[in-house]
Amino acid sequence: MPSLKSLVSALALACLANAATIKITATSGNVFDPSTVKAADGDILEFIFEPKNHSVVAGDYRYPCSPMELGTGFFSGFFPTDSGENDKVFRVEVNGTDPIPFYSSQGNECAGGMVGIINPKGNQTLDDYKKRASVLARSVSPGKKPFGGEIADNDNSSNSTSSDGDNGKGGSSGSGGSSSSGKGGSSGSGSSGDSSSDKNGKDSGSVSLSVSIGALGLALLMAI
Ligand SMILES: *[C@@H]1O[C@H](CO)[C@@H](O)[C@H](O)[C@H]1NC(C)=O
Ligand SMILES: *[C@@H]1O[C@H](CO)[C@@H](O)[C@H](O)[C@H]1NC(C)=O
Ligand SMILES: *[C@@H]1O[C@H](CO)[C@@H](O)[C@H](O)[C@H]1NC(C)=O
Ligand SMILES: *[C@@H]1O[C@H](CO)[C@@H](O)[C@H](O)[C@H]1NC(C)=O
Ligand SMILES: *[C@@H]1O[C@H](CO)[C@@H](O)[C@H](O)[C@H]1NC(C)=O
Repeated sequence: MPSLKSLVSALALACLANAATIKITATSGNVFDPSTVKAADGDILEFIFEPKNHSVVAGDYRYPCSPMELGTGFFSGFFPTDSGENDKVFRVEVNGTDPIPFYSSQGNECAGGMVGIINPKGNQTLDDYKKRASVLARSVSPGKKPFGGEIADNDNSSNSTSSDGDNGKGGSSGSGGSSSSGKGGSSGSGSSGDSSSDKNGKDSGSVSLSVSIGALGLALLMAI
């Protein structure tokens, strides 16, 4: 008889194998790109923020530019960004396949068309939501603090100073260690220097991917 633990691990692996990360950019042109998203249960939405100061909120389809019922959905908080992409992203797990409209709660951006929808179905469409949003004067932020997702590093490696900076810190603390361990074994400090330079050599994209999969797997195991 298979143990519960092995069943859970198999389930976690099965989920990980199928989960996709879908990137959605809150653009400097005040639209979400893409604005219509097809997502499967377990997929991760990764919201990326361009200037100037957008947010993303899960909406109640019936009331455009208003959040879902208290305690459900998600809110990223605001991501003020001067240029390029913000170096943080907001990641949300999709649970199920029901339609979820979303909008930026900054100023009149929602009415201006900064809206999107996950898994439109039947008469719940982006066009219908957008049309009803367009007549509204303002949108609602559900409080001050983000919820329903996690803030993570932007893995845009073409402009990722944060991962290089971390590696640099690791390298300098390693060299500090080797100078203080001059009394001890110099071979030990030499090997730690080698391993940190190996890390620097690796593609930062693959490192962050394996880290996030590890964290997700752990979360799944702990949730059950
Ligand atoms: C971003 O927008 C929020 C909500 O309007 C505001 O409270 C915050 O001060 C803004 N941040 C910046 C840096 O403009
Ligand atoms: C990274 O960000 C820049 C703008 O900051 C953008 O032009 C570029 O397309 C992004 N690259 C990727 C791989 O997302
Ligand atoms: C990297 O991103 C920051 C902030 O998003 C931006 O100020 C900077 O110009 C970007 N650098 C490059 C080389 O794209
Ligand atoms: C949307 O479709 C559902 C059935 O799928 C129907 O009950 C509802 O009345 C429709 N709403 C509108 C506004 O047409
Ligand atoms: C899915 O469930 C997780 C965990 O409860 C929650 O953090 C997340 O906000 C939910 N996703 C959506 C789209 O509501």
